[in-house]
Amino acid sequence: METEKLHSYIEELILNRSELLEEMEQYARAHHVPIMELSGIETILQILRIAQPKKILEVGTAIGYSALRMATVLPETNIVTIERDSERYTVAEKFIKRANKEHQISIIKGDALEVESLVEEFGSFDAIFIDAAKGQYKKFFEIYSKYLGDKGIIITDNVLFKGLVYEDTIESKRVRSMVTKIKDFNKWLMEHAEYDSIIIPVGDGVAISKKR
Ligand SMILES: C[S@@+](CC[C@H](N)C(=O)[O-])C[C@H]1O[C@@H](n2cnc3c(N)ncnc32)[C@H](O)[C@@H]1O
Repeated sequence: METEKLHSYIEELILNRSELLEEMEQYARAHHVPIMELSGIETILQILRIAQPKKILEVGTAIGYSALRMATVLPETNIVTIERDSERYTVAEKFIKRANKEHQISIIKGDALEVESLVEEFGSFDAIFIDAAKGQYKKFFEIYSKYLGDKGIIITDNVLFKGLVYEDTIESKRVRSMVTKIKDFNKWLMEHAEYDSIIIPVGDGVAISKKR
């Protein structure tokens, strides 16, 4: 099967989102904000519909797109999300307010490597979604998996990094170093004694880890 055609076919079948969510998708495109790819977020939402987490922690809010999509699909669920970029934090706040979801989504402004004490106040989570600086995935996982309840799941985006993880030669030293970090994370994750994990080749590659 030709992968690109296959993905286009699946994406064409996905129903339209609300006007506000589509406005966010357009905003992200216009301002070069990396939000989750459609097939990736739809896959995560389906997993969340099945798992029915009551509390979700997200690392990497950007403009609040994935947080709002999760809050829409799970209207009884509380979401805590972390964003370090001031401008994106402000835009996320505005979109979340417009969607009337302030009661459901709490944004923590700051670096996820430094705001653990603020997250701790929210207690434990049923699901954690990691979608921030790719080079820090292992650190995010190690810091926040402490707050995952029994039977919880951790979802990590971008683990296939545009397919670069299986390329033999990569010209750019910077990209090569990033690829090495992601490949190390993937191997570490798959061998983790406390989790069963699998990488799904949707969007930019999504890893699903279930606590044993
Ligand atoms: C890929 S975007 C998140 C997209 C969002 N989850 C969505 O799909 O709508 C990653 C975001 O994580 C933020 N970020 C990266 N490293 C971070 C860190 N250490 N702490 C907090 N936010 C971080 C970036 O500023 C960026 O806005």
